[in-house]
Amino acid sequence: MALQRIDAENTDDILRALDQDGGVIVRTLVDTALIETLRDDILKASSDYSPGVANQGMGDWGKMFVGENTIRFSSLGLVTPAYFQLLENKPYQQIADAALLPHCSSYWVNTAQAMLIGPGSDAQILHRDCTNWPQVCEAGWPDCPEVTISAMIALEETSEELGATRVIPGSHRWPNIDDCGDPDMTVPAELSPGDALVYSGKLVHGGGANRTTDRWRNAMHLSFVVGWLTPEECCPLDFNAENLSGYSDRVQTLLGHHSYNPGGEYGGGLWLRHADSW
Ligand SMILES: [Fe+2]
Repeated sequence: MALQRIDAENTDDILRALDQDGGVIVRTLVDTALIETLRDDILKASSDYSPGVANQGMGDWGKMFVGENTIRFSSLGLVTPAYFQLLENKPYQQIADAALLPHCSSYWVNTAQAMLIGPGSDAQILHRDCTNWPQVCEAGWPDCPEVTISAMIALEETSEELGATRVIPGSHRWPNIDDCGDPDMTVPAELSPGDALVYSGKLVHGGGANRTTDRWRNAMHLSFVVGWLTPEECCPLDFNAENLSGYSDRVQTLLGHHSYNPGGEYGGGLWLRHADSW
């Protein structure tokens, strides 16, 4: 069963497909000018990173998860100012609001990463992103809260041969959280530049194999997580208050520069700090 492809402005249809299949291809989530800037800046920065190096604090296990010939790096705001513009993307905001705000008063960036899959790479292990926080999603699975939502955004044409992300539609509702199916149940999310695979944290997925000998699968990931969980990426240490002073409240919140105010629901205040305008 192929994923549905829906234009970015059709939010209701996107949310329906996301609920039904666990993932959806959003056409032209990011406009051409912005995606070209992101592509140029990210590919230029990629020469500073070696494939397969677990440089994000995950050690040898990280190497295995990332893949030996895949380049990954985060802290994208240090690489390109276009990253901050991407954080203001309205269609993705509408999707994330609908998915996450029933379960929290605000959410923040989980991680933003370049994910460049090199020639000859094997497919990544199939997994669910929500199992980053197993105690949260195992309780009541599959009806537990949606805690994270992701977009794999194509910087360039992303075909099956190049290693398009693979997903198992419907696996967000499977009765056993430990069941990640097998590769022949997956379908590729082929994308044109600026398109994105938007998917639930509950969906089984993994990076595809790059079967070419000389071309890279150039894409980036941007995910959000509910404000009461610790994100993958340590954003607030990359950008201080001065760096973010000219940016919107949304960007500052997404990058960890406001407390988590539960507003009378969703537990207590978190990430508190005695500082003006925090
Ligand atoms: Fe993943």
